[in-house]
Amino acid sequence: MTYICPICQSPLQQHLPSKGYYCENKHHFDIAKEGYLNLLPVQHKKSKEPGDSRAMMRSRRSFLEAGFYQPLAQTITALIDQHRTVQPPMHILDMGCGEGYYSRQIEALCQHPEQLDLHGIDIAKNAILAAAKKQPNAHFIVASNKRMPYADHYFDLIVIVYAPANDAEVVRLLKTDGLLLTVTPGPRHLWQLKEFIYKEVKEHKVEIDLPEGYEQIDSRRLSYTITPDQEHRMALLQMTPFAWRAKGEIQSRIQRAQDLEIETDFIITLATKR
Ligand SMILES: C[S@@+](CC[C@H](N)C(=O)[O-])C[C@H]1O[C@@H](n2cnc3c(N)ncnc32)[C@H](O)[C@@H]1O
Ligand SMILES: [Zn+2]
Repeated sequence: MTYICPICQSPLQQHLPSKGYYCENKHHFDIAKEGYLNLLPVQHKKSKEPGDSRAMMRSRRSFLEAGFYQPLAQTITALIDQHRTVQPPMHILDMGCGEGYYSRQIEALCQHPEQLDLHGIDIAKNAILAAAKKQPNAHFIVASNKRMPYADHYFDLIVIVYAPANDAEVVRLLKTDGLLLTVTPGPRHLWQLKEFIYKEVKEHKVEIDLPEGYEQIDSRRLSYTITPDQEHRMALLQMTPFAWRAKGEIQSRIQRAQDLEIETDFIITLATKR
């Protein structure tokens, strides 16, 4: 069993002719034609379109597909391969997966991708729809990470790249020897973009919050420089939490800058239960 009912928490069974899922209390969830499952009942929705907007999702896709964060994807997949000890299939969850870039990269770059059972969850329906269309081998659901409708201890690995975490749910979903891989910004991430926005740029304080009882078993810092063109520079800006500060004049100065080199800085951490 993979999923539990988001309404009554009973196991969900698949009805094979329709491919939809249902529980013993007759709650029913259809598979969308793109192949994803919507497990976010209306009563759990706090807004009409929760999560990242369609515009943010498009910006992220355009930027990521251009390969600017490919070295990060390579580091993530190398770490997964290095620490892969479980009997196949290895159940992997990309939490707050957005439009699924890292999930696709894991399938493309990991050794023996046929031994991976890839899952992605995000609260933004548009993002999940795009992810499911592009990666039919993976399983995507629309749901909130506040209550993730998967069975207890289903996953061998949970990956969180720049997405909101939820320690209690991570602990519930990971196997006892499961791994948690997180990517967070390093001290100088996007330094030159921030120079346009803030009077005085300060190094970002690195804080790795692990669930209680978890310890770090590997950590890497990856930093390199990118030179995105105007279009990708704007897409990058839209992806960041400081986009709203960079309106009007600041935005056009960023756009007009010649050959702007921007530092990236990532901290990639792998943790497991002590
Ligand atoms: C900064 S994006 C990162 C997306 C992806 N991990 C990537 O790096 O390309 C954060 C993602 O978290 C999702 N998100 C925000 N709140 C969420 C929640 N409560 N439950 C699930 N996903 C959520 C957003 O919709 C968005 O796709
Ligand atoms: Zn139910």
